Amino acid sequence: MQELREEYRDLSRILFTQEEIAARVKEIGEEISRTCAGQELFMVCILKGACVFFADLMRAITIPVRIGFMSASSYGAGVFSSGEVKLGGLSFPVEGKNILIVEDIIDTGNSLCALKRFLTERGAASVKICAFLDKESRRTADVAVDFVGYAIEDEFVVGYGLDYAERYRGLPYIGILKREVYEK
Ligand code: IMP
Ligand code: MG
Repeated sequence: MQELREEYRDLSRILFTQEEIAARVKEIGEEISRTCAGQELFMVCILKGACVFFADLMRAITIPVRIGFMSASSYGAGVFSSGEVKLGGLSFPVEGKNILIVEDIIDTGNSLCALKRFLTERGAASVKICAFLDKESRRTADVAVDFVGYAIEDEFVVGYGLDYAERYRGLPYIGILKREVYEK
């Protein structure tokens, strides 16, 4: 029973169950496979938050893929990012590739904006973005997201790879974190 997990106590409620997530990931995989048919896709996982979604998504995509990893972190701890983005971990050649950036969640859009610019400047043939969750109301950067799992309200969510202070990433579902956990 998922509710018996210790970390479940810190959630006000579950937003997406394991079953709902699996069904949605399958749909996104089909959509990407259709849209990008005929290409070889180079999927870039943005660590650490996207790792769970990434592993599921690459198996839901039916066209050939290659994979790579990068990191993007905003300066400043806690729930709010400061806007300055630090990119790292590039370990693959970018030139000429059809890149699909895979991110856990888009909030202000600063991280994805910086990532897209970085990969475009290094000569990618194309750069598309897939984010599992989208907090549309929080967007300040002008960046287009090509594939989205769910648009969500402005609430802090954890699980399915997403963390708060490095906790909760292993929860198989996505839940809303109780305010009292981060407003201490
Ligand atoms: P952005 O650069 O403001 O779009 O921030 C995106 C990053 O902020 C994501 O990759 C997450 O690491 C983090 N983030 C934003 N909202 C949440 C949330 O509700 N839960 C967990 N991480 C979040
Ligand atoms: Mg992240």
